[in-house]
Amino acid sequence: MNRIRVNASRPYDVIIGSGLLENISNIIRETCPRAERVLVVSDSNVAPYHLKNVCESLKNFAVSSFVFEAGEKSKNLTTIDAVYDACAGFGMTRTDLILSLGGGVTTDMAGFAAATYMRGIPVIHMPTSLLCDVDASIGGKTGVDHPSGKNIIGAFYQPSCVIINVDFLSSLPDAVFTEGMAEVIKYAFIMDKELFSLLEKNNIHSLRSDISLLEKVITRCAADKIEIVNEDEFDNGRRQLLNFGHTVGHVIELASNFNTSHGEAVALGMAIIARASVHAAICDNTVCDSLLKLLNSYGLPSSYDYSPADIAHSAMHDKKARGSVVSLIVLEDIGRASIHKMNESEIKEFLTL
Ligand code: GLY
Repeated sequence: MNRIRVNASRPYDVIIGSGLLENISNIIRETCPRAERVLVVSDSNVAPYHLKNVCESLKNFAVSSFVFEAGEKSKNLTTIDAVYDACAGFGMTRTDLILSLGGGVTTDMAGFAAATYMRGIPVIHMPTSLLCDVDASIGGKTGVDHPSGKNIIGAFYQPSCVIINVDFLSSLPDAVFTEGMAEVIKYAFIMDKELFSLLEKNNIHSLRSDISLLEKVITRCAADKIEIVNEDEFDNGRRQLLNFGHTVGHVIELASNFNTSHGEAVALGMAIIARASVHAAICDNTVCDSLLKLLNSYGLPSSYDYSPADIAHSAMHDKKARGSVVSLIVLEDIGRASIHKMNESEIKEFLTL
């Protein structure tokens, strides 16, 4: 078991390991000593696999659950309102706790409900997908979508603890596991050359069949994300590196009406930016080739027919735009990326090179 401290405005631990279900009562007791009630928030895909076991593991707490229909379409204020109803119906007070059990949609929504119910109650994240293990569960980004865009409504609200039980990943369908690999590969390219070497020596099959290797990879990614959050909790500087592939990816995801998964869209976004970085003479062709090869060996796509003008135009409506400028993350080397502030025509020019 690995335990890494996040030194954010509210410090907390990220605990990574196998067999953690047996320990969750102790971890919660230690983290939230005054909690009496735990509301487990999960979705209709995850609940049939894990909800019963998790609820049964929560010894010495009053436990209730709220399960919403899985998918991005549920990520809205109507669902949040239903979570508030569940909290109120269960008699939750300010010292009671929401436990999120699921992927990024669940973490974001449970975190937002916790941030706002009674002006803030504790939340512990127990992610069940690779993507959520290495990204969404750590760093306190919470929120819901709005008709004007993805994650438009939200708050920074750090959890009280993150419990990454790697055993959960064995029940993940291949496509969902593969999706998470896009975020793993992202860390290798923006900041972690050693992770790149580890991933290069392996592939999707070896990673899925070796739980200790998987734990090692997740721990590296969590440590990478924590390093960044410790330096820039509120996303005004280095944290923006985590958006490598995401600005273009969000446009692809939206244009496909969410038929392209987040992970696939991020993979395509990273590939598009890497090719453009080569054409702009910012990075070497071998670096781009290494990225494309790694994406393919982990089952992710790397080519997409796109219009630079459409991507540049939509990117300006991304919630990360500041005024008429977007911070585009450009690839320099394996393990090194940089932030470039560009307006719409500069993005278009960069992608057209
Ligand atoms: N998902 C990117 C971040 O947490 O900043």
